[in-house]
Amino acid sequence: MCGIIAFTGSLDVIPILLEGLRRLEYRGYDSAGVATVDETGIHLRKRSGRITELARALDDEPLTGVCGISHTRWATHGPATEWNAHPHLDEAADFAVVHNGVIENHLQLRQQLEDDGVVFRSDTDTEVLTHLVAKLWSGNLVEAVTRATELVRGTYGVAVICRHEPGTIVGARLGSPLVIGIGPAGHSIASDPGALANHAEKIVYLADRQICQITPEGWTVWTRDAVTVDCRMHDLRQVVDTIDDDLNGFPHHMLKEIYEQPEALTNAMRGRLDEADATAHFGGLNLDPRQLRGVERIIMTACGTSYHAGLVGEYLFEELARIPVEVEYASELRYRNPPVDRNTITLAITQSGETADTLAALRESKRMGHTTLAICNVVGSSIAREADGGVYLHAGTEVGVASTKAFTSQVCVLAMLAVYFGRTRHLSALQGARLIDELQALPDAVREALRCHDVVKQVAQRHAHARNILYLGRQYLYPVALEGALKLKEISYIHAEGYPAAEMKHGPIALVDEETPSVFLVPRGQVFDKVMSNMQEIKARRGPVIAIASPADREVARVADDVIPIPDVPEWLQPIVAAIPLQLLAYEISLLRGCDVDKPRNLAKSVTVE
Ligand code: F6R
Repeated sequence: MCGIIAFTGSLDVIPILLEGLRRLEYRGYDSAGVATVDETGIHLRKRSGRITELARALDDEPLTGVCGISHTRWATHGPATEWNAHPHLDEAADFAVVHNGVIENHLQLRQQLEDDGVVFRSDTDTEVLTHLVAKLWSGNLVEAVTRATELVRGTYGVAVICRHEPGTIVGARLGSPLVIGIGPAGHSIASDPGALANHAEKIVYLADRQICQITPEGWTVWTRDAVTVDCRMHDLRQVVDTIDDDLNGFPHHMLKEIYEQPEALTNAMRGRLDEADATAHFGGLNLDPRQLRGVERIIMTACGTSYHAGLVGEYLFEELARIPVEVEYASELRYRNPPVDRNTITLAITQSGETADTLAALRESKRMGHTTLAICNVVGSSIAREADGGVYLHAGTEVGVASTKAFTSQVCVLAMLAVYFGRTRHLSALQGARLIDELQALPDAVREALRCHDVVKQVAQRHAHARNILYLGRQYLYPVALEGALKLKEISYIHAEGYPAAEMKHGPIALVDEETPSVFLVPRGQVFDKVMSNMQEIKARRGPVIAIASPADREVARVADDVIPIPDVPEWLQPIVAAIPLQLLAYEISLLRGCDVDKPRNLAKSVTVE
């Protein structure tokens, strides 16, 4: 989603800003812009489309300077045009603002400003903030930004420059992440530490309602009441130790990340499996044994793919730990008021740790006094810092917008957590030992599952023209059916739906015809025969069937039109192995349809608006 990078120091600012924007590119955006400031004023370049368009504009009409702000915009208020791209200027072009988040009362504020004679030049909510800063400035930029942000309702991460104070950049945060970068040649502000990798050594996280100022010489952070904050510095390399934008020979990040899954799973399990005690261990859960045993219910909350991981978690916890679980979309949970008893914990699942709805749901649970935990990939992200305890995935940076390795790593962490909780309750040491052995074999099983790629390519050729595809599975594999459908929708723009296979006959089966393929998840397990019957029902209506099944399964091969083989693993780990062919299928179909696999239309990697 929107990205901010701003720098002031002794280096030429444009290459730093462009490099920072490129590092944020994977998050999704549809226009980009920069503004520099010096004694002569503010200088602006903006373009709709990709950063390459902005770079071309800067080649045609170069900007120089040592202080500037820049932004990638993911359109919310107004289309993705040049005039809506950030930075936004006030009427006199004395101030420039870049903003992430949403200003909810922008219409009222806009009306008030227009009544005062201000002429707006964009459709954005951000422009309101620019005019407010200009109106409230009386010689001190920090004060003007502080007062302006007090008037807005909603969320913001902003960086502001002013022609009267060239060399100074002011930042402020409420609900939208912002970090300060500290380096040998200057200081920076960014929405993501990853954007600072080429010039900062240390970083400082801003908290909500804090304001900061950076100059070439130093940085300061204040509360809204102008009290100086003593902030903790973090080593940038420790926070973003996995910055990795090298494709390593793969044509796309998504494919690279699909192939990284055996290693990601190994990393998720490293140091956490305890053979001696036949359990798993987690360093950061911050639950003492009494609290652990006292947990009577878990609410898992997440969005998108992470929500699907939570649905698998529900099956895992109920079976292995015998703890009732509810999985809620974070966007729904945040506005619900469910009766929740004392011994309920909330578990947020999130790759980025910045998803606005998940963060809000976590905060609401915290406010109600519940213990909150998070499963998160991005170290130091808002959710990782705000949860009472949690588990990192250690999957490495996920750049492809379509989440792949984060999903399987999330499920793996949930499986380990279920074993851990289960071992404090009814799981015996022998049962625990068997589960640990099965987990240890998982990376090899995923390696083997990746061998289905050639078969997937052939299946993709046959179905890339489809207009609708159904994904069907039961029990542990029902959430994987949802995830397979989501992957396909996201990157190929084919309409797809996931269902519990037996639900088909309650309505969706009306969609089935010769043109509508169904992907069945049908490895051997307790409901194998039931899923086979559901498959027959589709075949009887001439629907093409693609089965994800054991390579040796003749029974499946007799019914299905195509079989994509996956290795046999215990049922509780099938979601991880079965996800692989579905990720590959979405990828191959997307390629055949000429879509932009890593940057699908309309999508953002990290959804930081509500
Ligand atoms: C799908 C995808 C999204 C995310 C969702 C939540 O491929 O990536 O559906 O899963 O936006 O994001 P996180 O996990 O960062 O909270």
